[in-house]
Amino acid sequence: MDLKVIHLKEIDSTNRYCYKLGKEGKRNLVVIADIQSAGVGRLGRRWYSNYGGLYFSILLDLKEYLNNRKDSIGKLNFIGSISVYETLIEYLPENLKGAIGIKFPNDIIVSADKDKKICGILSEINWDYKFVVLGIGININNHIPEDIKDTAVSLWELCKREYDRFEILHKFLSRFKDNFHLEDKEILKKYEKYSKTLGRYVKIITPKEEITGTVFKIDYGGVYLSTFEGIRHINVGDCIHLR
Ligand code: BTN
Repeated sequence: MDLKVIHLKEIDSTNRYCYKLGKEGKRNLVVIADIQSAGVGRLGRRWYSNYGGLYFSILLDLKEYLNNRKDSIGKLNFIGSISVYETLIEYLPENLKGAIGIKFPNDIIVSADKDKKICGILSEINWDYKFVVLGIGININNHIPEDIKDTAVSLWELCKREYDRFEILHKFLSRFKDNFHLEDKEILKKYEKYSKTLGRYVKIITPKEEITGTVFKIDYGGVYLSTFEGIRHINVGDCIHLR
């Protein structure tokens, strides 16, 4: 996979920009911006994108992505998550290596610091123009605003030193390219190994119900829970709460 990197000083959102390029027929691009004036998170939330963080999106051809893949977007999220995990772990001191992990579906969290989030992923699929966009935001040297201090953390806060965002991006891309070609079972094996959700007692709140139980297996679509009423497979998005 040959990916060309485009570096922008400022843009509203690298995902939105990739969407525009995708509709113009462009493919195999990575767009990184120093600042996003309107960074987008999942469920329409805002993603703070001040200077010092790593904000980028990868634009891929849908056919190439779906080659031999039965699912749609779930796997791309998982490939992104395991690649971020493998990248960040290299920058952490020994005593913090066990502290980071993936919270289902695709957040990277720091369990040593109240499960605060260090990375978020937003992938989008466009069936009409046949492309996918994988958007990743990682808190590196950026200042975390006061109103999200309880839930977000940066690499700088964890390690008390500054990092080269471009070095991290290139490490990530090399992991991503390797992981992209893995078989399903290898992706899931890595994902479960890096997971901070597997084995945890969780509460899942959906519009229909509230379920508590222990997560014993994960797949692209959701989690398997062991509950008092038996085993349940639940398609969860952002409604999972670690207990
Ligand atoms: C989330 O956890 O809610 C997902 C956050 C995704 C943020 C990244 S930053 C780069 C890319 N551009 C965006 O506007 N969003 C994603």
